[in-house]
Amino acid sequence: MTLPKTMRAIEISAPGGPEVLTPVEVPVPVPGPGQILIEVHWAGVNRPDALQRAGAYAPPPSASPLPGLEASGRVAALGPDVSGWSVGDAVCALLPGGGYAEYVATPAAHALPIPAGMDLREAACLPETCYTVWSNVFMRGGLKAGEVFLVHGGSSGIGTTAIQIASALGARVFTTAGSAEKCAVCEGLGAERAINYREEDFVDILRAAGGADLILDMVGGDYISRNIKALADDGRLVQIAFLSGPKVELNFAQVMTRRLTITGSTLRPQSDLAKARIAEELRAHVWPLIEGGRLKPVMDSEFPLDQAAEAHRRIESSGHIGKIVLKLR
Ligand SMILES: NC(=O)c1ccc[n+]([C@@H]2O[C@H](COP(=O)([O-])OP(=O)(O)OC[C@H]3O[C@@H](n4cnc5c(N)ncnc54)[C@H](OP(=O)(O)O)[C@@H]3O)[C@@H](O)[C@H]2O)c1
Repeated sequence: MTLPKTMRAIEISAPGGPEVLTPVEVPVPVPGPGQILIEVHWAGVNRPDALQRAGAYAPPPSASPLPGLEASGRVAALGPDVSGWSVGDAVCALLPGGGYAEYVATPAAHALPIPAGMDLREAACLPETCYTVWSNVFMRGGLKAGEVFLVHGGSSGIGTTAIQIASALGARVFTTAGSAEKCAVCEGLGAERAINYREEDFVDILRAAGGADLILDMVGGDYISRNIKALADDGRLVQIAFLSGPKVELNFAQVMTRRLTITGSTLRPQSDLAKARIAEELRAHVWPLIEGGRLKPVMDSEFPLDQAAEAHRRIESSGHIGKIVLKLR
């Protein structure tokens, strides 16, 4: 593959609203040891990209300052010490940053093959949500078949993925979403009960079901104390974001007397090795679900690269259901 010297990309010209996403021409990255260079065909858009754009989620020191945490495309070049990939292979990958660009370098161990039967557009939506859901719900949260699982934001990229994987693996899935239309989509994906949080109290519904064994929460704020009420004895709460804020007053007696576990994580700052371990688990446990038709990204919309600002307006409107992608080729 002949590589150009420069490429089209989107940079964050200054912290701010979607309008700071600016088309630029920048050098094509050179893959380092253990890295592959990907010719990007599609890039996934995620809420953390909007946080980074607003100045609230700084990239790790070694990462590209360009936004974009996942992409699909073809392997365009190999850095030193890479095995298992060849130039031209179709691939999707978790990225440390830099996905809103025609080429991106990422550790080869964070790349995964395109599941059989899936196109590159859908595959661009797999890495960020699958890594986040698998590592938090299963590796950290230990969800088991038969347990009651509550995921907030069921219509989000994370939510639609969590509902499908957890129900495919035998959990009883409950979820919250902000409209009847979103709730219907969530139930179509396998949720036993989708709760329109604007009309119903998820605490009452989960308590009537015996309590949640595991809750995956991205809302925070007043949901934190309500989550604790909704948990069963020995339940676990895994926090992955705080859309309504991280600071609350909390009575920890419940945590002690009902033996609750409160934990959480962010994916991006974790070590390359930790992410490679998650990738191995995805290959073993989640890729077979995709190839067996049990998990399919819910596609909301696509935008050309130079309309990345529109893509951010859409994700921040919360009008979307599922995933938004940028088209590069
Ligand atoms: N910790 C990690 O490693 C990690 C990795 C990836 C993503 N995340 C986080 O996971 C969340 C989902 O990510 P995503 O990319 O799937 O984003 P997304 O599709 O935009 O999901 C966010 C959803 O949350 C719901 N929501 C509930 N309360 C909200 C509030 N107060 N403000 C705004 N939205 C609210 C919205 O749906 P309704 O209309 O139903 O309210 C919205 O669709 C984000 O918060 C993201 O930062 C964390």
